[in-house]
Amino acid sequence: MNEIAFLLNGTPVRAPATDPTRTLLDWLREERGLKGTKEGCNEGDCGACTVMVTDGQGIRALNACILLLPQLHGRAVRTVEGIAGPDGALHPVQQAMIDRHGSQCGFCTPGFIAAMAVGHATGRRDHDDMLAGNLCRCTGYGPIVRAAEDAAEAPVPEWMATDGAALAAQTGDPAPFAPAGGDALAGWCLEHPKGVLVAGATDVGLWVTKDLRNLGPVAFLHGCADLQKVEPVAGGIRIGAGVTIASLRAAMEEPHPALAELLRRFASEQIRAAATIGGNIANGSPIGDGPPALIALGAVLHLRRGEERRSIPLEAFFLDYRRQDRRPGEFVEAVTIPATAPALRCYKISKRFDQDISAVCGCFNVTVEDRKVTDARIAFGGMAGVPKRAAAVEAALLGRDWTEARVEAALPAFAEDFAPLSDMRASAGYRLQVAQNLLRRYRHDLSGAPVSVLPLSALEPVT
Ligand SMILES: Cc1cc2nc3c(=O)[nH]c(=O)nc-3n(C[C@H](O)[C@H](O)[C@H](O)COP(=O)(O)OP(=O)(O)OC[C@H]3O[C@@H](n4cnc5c(N)ncnc54)[C@H](O)[C@@H]3O)c2cc1C
Ligand code: FES
Ligand code: FES
Repeated sequence: MNEIAFLLNGTPVRAPATDPTRTLLDWLREERGLKGTKEGCNEGDCGACTVMVTDGQGIRALNACILLLPQLHGRAVRTVEGIAGPDGALHPVQQAMIDRHGSQCGFCTPGFIAAMAVGHATGRRDHDDMLAGNLCRCTGYGPIVRAAEDAAEAPVPEWMATDGAALAAQTGDPAPFAPAGGDALAGWCLEHPKGVLVAGATDVGLWVTKDLRNLGPVAFLHGCADLQKVEPVAGGIRIGAGVTIASLRAAMEEPHPALAELLRRFASEQIRAAATIGGNIANGSPIGDGPPALIALGAVLHLRRGEERRSIPLEAFFLDYRRQDRRPGEFVEAVTIPATAPALRCYKISKRFDQDISAVCGCFNVTVEDRKVTDARIAFGGMAGVPKRAAAVEAALLGRDWTEARVEAALPAFAEDFAPLSDMRASAGYRLQVAQNLLRRYRHDLSGAPVSVLPLSALEPVT
């Protein structure tokens, strides 16, 4: 109970469970002398600290700088030191990086190698997405992506396939700081009404590494398998709070492709593999990407305090900037969304396509019957202190013809709904203009007109 047990580069290791906020990165470098894993930003942005983590759910690339030691209990970690074979034989991605000259100063290289080895082991071919969380300042991404392509068809080396079997052979000590299910978590929350819940730690990790905060009592959610399900229920789909953004993206491909596409733009591979939808809602950020899409879908939020449960429309949860309708001892259990919503579209506007926080995130779900708007749910992130519905815009559309003229006539209502701020991501004027343009874009999108600039990047050069 007092130790965190996991496999490190194929060898069982134990770490004292005295400080639940110790990061894997610090432990690797300070306690094990494994300095291949680099510290760049220390906030999940650059990927220099990427490691490979295997458990019963598969293999993932994660950022060691915001991965807290208790999250590793019962899992297998491979750092860059464990990616070559025991006899020094190079992994195919390492050989390809040499052949393609994919490393210049080399600072980013261990993180790229770990992410590439995960992509290789899991058969990924979307190398741009897979590597979007790894920053290289000098080589340029062309040679690195070509190395990933070259290595893709090579078999997974046998020494990389041993972690799963070794994990299965491990005896299962209880995980420190991690209640074993929703009931146990509910009990812990009642006992520690001011305690801190840690799900993926992609927000909480920064409280530790950047704010140097002492968190006090903490409970990790990764032991609550019952909170990690996406399941059909009467009237829709129930998504457990502990579902990661990566799992949610996969689960939404069919029922809600627009949401799945938005989640592709959510941070990076490493963050999506750790971050949960419950954390994305509970943190109350005005610029989170999940809440506007879920609000546009008409999501219902399920909260639990001990044996007491209540359900509210998701938009009602966000009371004011960073103030949510969550009582002491209460936690987010799940969210329910409709099974389908063919008119849902989500547009994320950020300075950078990959791995960037939204300046504005606009999500639209307008039902048109006999050319008239019969229902409208429009929600935005980045436009107010909370994720918020555009109630005045919705009212200006409802019951009217779905025509260009009516859409133009509804645009001034954005200024009734929102008085956005100017900050480093965008000015207030830009945000208001973009929000209006997104409604125009949505009308074109629903009518089948091409609205994405992405296909342009796939065009062959004109000869
Ligand atoms: C580099 C980087 C890029 C990012 N990019 C994006 C992005 O593009 N879009 C975006 O929306 N966000 C982004 N984020 C923010 C973050 O990844 C998300 O908010 C994420 O969903 C948080 O989930 P988590 O599981 O990691 O939460 P944690 O960090 O574990 O927790 C966050 C908060 O929620 C609370 N909490 C967690 N689970 C529950 C629960 N079940 N009940 C009650 N409280 C709970 C915690 O106590 C804490 O207050 C980014 C973060 C980083 C570091
Ligand atoms: S050090 Fe930059 S992501 Fe971890
Ligand atoms: S090789 Fe220098 S940062 Fe990538």
